[in-house]
Amino acid sequence: MNRQIRLKSRPSSLPTPANFEAADAPMPAVRDGEVLRRTIFLSLDPYMRGRMSDAPSYAAPVEIGAVMCGHTVSQVVESRHPDFRRDDIVAGYDGWQAFAASPGKDVRKLDPAVAPISTAIGALGMPGFTAFVGLFDIAQPRTGESVVVSAASGAVGSMVGQLAKTRGCRVVGVAGSGDKCRFVVEELGFDACVNYKTDDLVPALRSACPDGVDVYFDNVGGAVLAAVLRVLNRGARIPLCGTISDYNASEPPSGPNLRPLLVNRAMIKGFIVSDHTDRFPAFLKEVAPLVRQGTIKYREDIVDGLDNAVSAFLGLFEGRNFGKLLVRVSDLER
Ligand SMILES: NC(=O)c1ccc[n+]([C@@H]2O[C@H](COP(=O)([O-])OP(=O)(O)OC[C@H]3O[C@@H](n4cnc5c(N)ncnc54)[C@H](OP(=O)(O)O)[C@@H]3O)[C@@H](O)[C@H]2O)c1
Repeated sequence: MNRQIRLKSRPSSLPTPANFEAADAPMPAVRDGEVLRRTIFLSLDPYMRGRMSDAPSYAAPVEIGAVMCGHTVSQVVESRHPDFRRDDIVAGYDGWQAFAASPGKDVRKLDPAVAPISTAIGALGMPGFTAFVGLFDIAQPRTGESVVVSAASGAVGSMVGQLAKTRGCRVVGVAGSGDKCRFVVEELGFDACVNYKTDDLVPALRSACPDGVDVYFDNVGGAVLAAVLRVLNRGARIPLCGTISDYNASEPPSGPNLRPLLVNRAMIKGFIVSDHTDRFPAFLKEVAPLVRQGTIKYREDIVDGLDNAVSAFLGLFEGRNFGKLLVRVSDLER
């Protein structure tokens, strides 16, 4: 049987386990040109909250009763496509389920020699690529500039800070616990980190960025964005990547004071990583060697078993994850 987690109902604020249902479906059939694969790793990401809602957005919602969406790393069980063989490792978008079958064009073959296979949906997948595009294409940091990034220990934030270090920037993280702050400074090499739950944000940012903020990579919106706007430098750039602080809000959030953007001739620009797929080869060319050599580090928070996906996903909105959140759906067979 094919274990699946499906969307049962749409949440109006914070999702609960009642919004999901687990079910056993028959094994998918494999037709000519298709590849049947078994999920090894499932990525859990904040954007999935948006797909649970039918409010207008940049992507269609998951239908009620459908399998929740998500990036996956899988092992081929049966191939009726000339480019794939049994046991190949592939990256795809198979969602919260143990098996999937579809045309070969839906999956990308992975070379396990490049880096551990789980990185294909983390440091070397959509989250790492988001960091690359938002930082290098939108913010374009210069040597010596100060870069601040929120959700700093997470999948995107941890990559933003380390990529900014490769350009000789001063890097300051914002994170939600002392352990996360210590991790980004001591393990990832950030210059400083502000704990937004315990520090007085504006003075803490001023002291961490004595020369002001040139780039703010915003993953969270809300109070952290409002505080960083008060310490912006002239010509600052803000790639607006995510606003996780309001993903579960039932009322539209009250906006920050945008006047500092005007005064400082600063730029804020929203972006969606899937609009930039032409840059994926450049991303892998630059970042895969850094990950393989250990110059760029990544931390994974791996939960065992598809049936634990719901509780792990809900933890994203409380900061319970520490690093890229993944579900180990099954073991790799060698
Ligand atoms: N634009 C795009 O194309 C794109 C692509 C990928 C991701 N994103 C966005 O990037 C952001 C980070 O994603 P990720 O995958 O790297 O997740 P992540 O950072 O690995 O996990 C989410 C983290 O967000 C923080 N958080 C949760 N609730 C918060 C709140 N109310 N206020 C402030 N921080 C809060 C928590 O860290 P703390 O403990 O530090 O609070 C939590 O661990 C999300 O907003 C996501 O939607 C955008």
